[in-house]
Amino acid sequence: MKISGVDLKDLKEQYGTPLYIYDAKMLKDNMRLYKNNLVSKEFETEVLFASKAFNVKEMVRIVDKEGLSLDCVSVGEFFTALSVGYDPKKVYFHGNNKTPEDIRFILEHNVGVIVVDNLMEIVALDMITKEMKKPVDILIRLNVGVSAHTHKFIVTAHVDSKFGVAYNSEDFKTMLEVIEKSEYINFKGFHSHIGSQIFDLAAFDAAIDKLVSYCKDFKEELILNIGGGFGVHYTDEDKPIPFDVVSKNLIETCEKALKKNNVKIKKLCIEPGRSIVAEAGYTLYTIGFTKKTPNKEYYFIDGGMTDNIRPALYQAKYSCDIVGKENAKKDHLVTIAGKCCESGDLIIEDYYLPEAKPGDLLITYTTGAYGYSMSSNYNKALTPAVVFVEDGKSKLVVRRMRLDELIEREE
Ligand code: LLP
Repeated sequence: MKISGVDLKDLKEQYGTPLYIYDAKMLKDNMRLYKNNLVSKEFETEVLFASKAFNVKEMVRIVDKEGLSLDCVSVGEFFTALSVGYDPKKVYFHGNNKTPEDIRFILEHNVGVIVVDNLMEIVALDMITKEMKKPVDILIRLNVGVSAHTHKFIVTAHVDSKFGVAYNSEDFKTMLEVIEKSEYINFKGFHSHIGSQIFDLAAFDAAIDKLVSYCKDFKEELILNIGGGFGVHYTDEDKPIPFDVVSKNLIETCEKALKKNNVKIKKLCIEPGRSIVAEAGYTLYTIGFTKKTPNKEYYFIDGGMTDNIRPALYQAKYSCDIVGKENAKKDHLVTIAGKCCESGDLIIEDYYLPEAKPGDLLITYTTGAYGYSMSSNYNKALTPAVVFVEDGKSKLVVRRMRLDELIEREE
């Protein structure tokens, strides 16, 4: 089996397993699909990559080359972007609990837009911008009350969410008063993110409708950032909507809402993370031991929840193949288990695969989002390497962690 012309067995030889593999062309194609279709004659548009889904230097370089902006949610993500010369003015900085140190750091490094999450944050920002004499553009993160989700852990816009403020709430009104009095804070518009892995575009329509209706209360033309959350294919139960269709639909919805409310906006932004990187990513493992119990058959792999926490955390489903046996008879109902000391370390449960032998390679699909970025060193596992493949060539983007690196910060 090959990805972008590169044989998986050769990748195993060269880089070892577990290994994260990204199809670089697909990453670029995905970005272009959003960028080329999110266009309107009525307002500007901007596509941001939500870098929490996969934030490494080479990824930021591609985002930069493709002309996308960046959503960062920590100083760490922002620092990674700065380290490859990414323009900080193109960064939207998020987070519900930015520390004074975070705020000072991003202001010092000329962040483009801060997405302010709550009342206490605007008060802190007011103080710090005054002290630093530094102007800043902000969006306010609104909790629009539309809750679209496939799993409760990734709901972000319900009324009691830890993110954002509700329009018309006392907190929101006070935030506007603080902004009004501030010499340095420039209010530019609203942000909302309604959830993740969403397949129903009606949820975005509802959020856009609300945001646009709020714009009527402001004299200036605002920026609306409607977040990310567009669903991808993990298993055949998932039916993603093509990105060009998503983009055109969002534009149409927004244009209609503007007309209905007789209002104009300056810009519409979207912030996809998962949908840009998920399907472009694969994880390659080596199968070690296999085992039969009275009711189950296990194939053990050399990675697990340390490189993909999503099945354990969200009961996320994945699909997979045994490399070189994609077309063999799939007559074994197996569970793919990782090597962590944790019963819940199961990557895929009850899945039909051909018979496997120790040393066979197993590939899991759609692991490009929130796999590497949520990886851990539980059981002192080494973070796997990451390679990008394109046109028959592979490029090491993150080298595998070494044992000495596991203890280098320890006294
Ligand atoms: N913008 C904001 C403000 C967000 O909070 C998120 C995701 C995104 C954009 C990007 O959403 P996406 O297009 O990737 O769905 N760890 C979870 C996902 C958490 C998403 C948090 N916020 C998972 O593995 O499913």
